[in-house]
Amino acid sequence: MEITGKNIVITGGARGMGRRFAEDLQRAGAKPYVLDVVQENLDVLKAETGIEGQVVDVSNEAAVEAFFEQFTAANGAVDVLINNAGITSDALFIKQKGDEITKFPFANWEKVINVNLTGVFLCAREAAYHMVKNKIKGVIINISSISRAGNLGQTNYSATKSAVDSMTVTWGKELSRYGIRVGAVAPGYINTEMVAKIKQEVLDKIIEKIPAGRLGEMDEISQTVQFIITNDFFTGRVIEVDGGMRI
Ligand SMILES: NC(=O)c1ccc[n+]([C@@H]2O[C@H](COP(=O)([O-])OP(=O)(O)OC[C@H]3O[C@@H](n4cnc5c(N)ncnc54)[C@H](O)[C@@H]3O)[C@@H](O)[C@H]2O)c1
Repeated sequence: MEITGKNIVITGGARGMGRRFAEDLQRAGAKPYVLDVVQENLDVLKAETGIEGQVVDVSNEAAVEAFFEQFTAANGAVDVLINNAGITSDALFIKQKGDEITKFPFANWEKVINVNLTGVFLCAREAAYHMVKNKIKGVIINISSISRAGNLGQTNYSATKSAVDSMTVTWGKELSRYGIRVGAVAPGYINTEMVAKIKQEVLDKIIEKIPAGRLGEMDEISQTVQFIITNDFFTGRVIEVDGGMRI
């Protein structure tokens, strides 16, 4: 698919990698539109780049349905959806310290499942529905993670990201009859605010395990997103961009 002139919706696009995708796609001639839950960051994005967006919680079915209805009525169906919104809420599954044994909090489980799994399901479902209805041969891109392999302290996050991979394969198979392609990118550790939350000593140990010897940069993931959009033979697969690291 040509990028120029396309309607591209990016979830979680008001900061971090999503914002980078939106800016790069705008430079490439697309019409990016961003969904996020932080109005302040949407305002900054609009002021600094002119990129429009609105508050939509991707885990809220009614809000996601209403957004895609309204967007399609105003602009035509979405050509490309980038399911980028994602959060972490780490904990150990069981933790024993002295006599005290704590369990993985259910609240951490639920909140990550809601955004990273249900959110991806809902946005892809609505985007695909309007693509089919409007005969758009669109592209859906899901942002997975190196943690999909199962990462310490990330029962919830790892579960959602491996589910994102399997949904990518499933939708690739199901939607190809409509000309819709589905792909995913599984980034390793990227130089972002999400990674800046990791303690420096832990981060140093992580970097030691990256064969490339450094964190990835956002433009290296953005390039991969654009590859998926433009390569018409790519569907149902996940691209790993992680400097060669295995968790
Ligand atoms: N940073 C990394 O190294 C890394 C590595 C692998 C995968 N990822 C994945 O890449 C994606 C982007 O990561 P990032 O580092 O840019 O994160 P980030 O925290 O900087 O950005 C995530 C954005 O999603 C928004 N968001 C959160 N909940 C939302 C909701 N319910 N509805 C809509 N928007 C919501 C946030 O407000 C934020 O703007 C995530 O899916 C993440 O899991 C990141």
